[in-house]
Amino acid sequence: MDKAEMACQLAAQTIQNASPLRPQTAVVLGSGLGGFASAVQGGVQLPYADIPHFPRATAPSHAGELLIGTLADHPVYVFSGRFHYYEGLSFRRAAFFVRVLKQLGVRNLLLTNAAGLINLDFTPGDLMLVQDHINFSGQSTCRGRNEEMFGERFFDMSDAYSSELRALAHACAEDTGVLLREGVYAFMPGPQYETPAEIRALGLLGADAVGMSTVPEVIEAVHCGLRTLCISCLTNYGAGLSPNPLRSDEVNDIASTRAGDLSALLLALIGRL
Ligand code: HPA
Repeated sequence: MDKAEMACQLAAQTIQNASPLRPQTAVVLGSGLGGFASAVQGGVQLPYADIPHFPRATAPSHAGELLIGTLADHPVYVFSGRFHYYEGLSFRRAAFFVRVLKQLGVRNLLLTNAAGLINLDFTPGDLMLVQDHINFSGQSTCRGRNEEMFGERFFDMSDAYSSELRALAHACAEDTGVLLREGVYAFMPGPQYETPAEIRALGLLGADAVGMSTVPEVIEAVHCGLRTLCISCLTNYGAGLSPNPLRSDEVNDIASTRAGDLSALLLALIGRL
């Protein structure tokens, strides 16, 4: 076993020792969406700092702990706080936890994030199911030697955001009365928000929303064979689409006002997995 595999096993072992639950589903909470963590029942909290080889979550409004408990009577891992490329981590390090989840036997990865909207059919506050992404970083979690135990060297990204899970999410949106848009997410490296010219360019290239997270996790999840779903909370107009400058406290405020609907949707979805 090489060093990377050993790091992964050690982290997985620590998580398994913390709780007798063996979840098949993991949820990652994005900016301003940490409130969802309070819905987790009977959970243990494991700070990232106590999990060997986990990076620290340094982004403001990201708690930095793993909750292991139940939601809708299903055991789940909930990551309150995520890792970003803009924090200085490589794609591989930012998505290290996905390999740990694979090792733990997880099958479904449900991601959330805050994003700027580009498609003017949408409104700030809308929830958008990610249909596909455009990766404007040139990075991959899998650059370098392939770790065969996790997946193959070359892998297909044409159903990265599982069409099966997306259909289920739309059904849950109908059941819960939550408006759920669908569109393409563009990854930009940040930490600066985009320029108005970049937003216009992204729109021409087919992006409906833009953000600085999620894509590393999705690439690694596909590599590892996990089913993935992502819901973006569209917190603001992309730069230049409104006269107001972008502010991260506004992003977090809008996201937290939508946490209720997002939670309802996720709970319904987890109940039907
Ligand atoms: N751009 C990039 N990331 C974001 C934005 C944005 O407008 N809003 C929330 N996250």
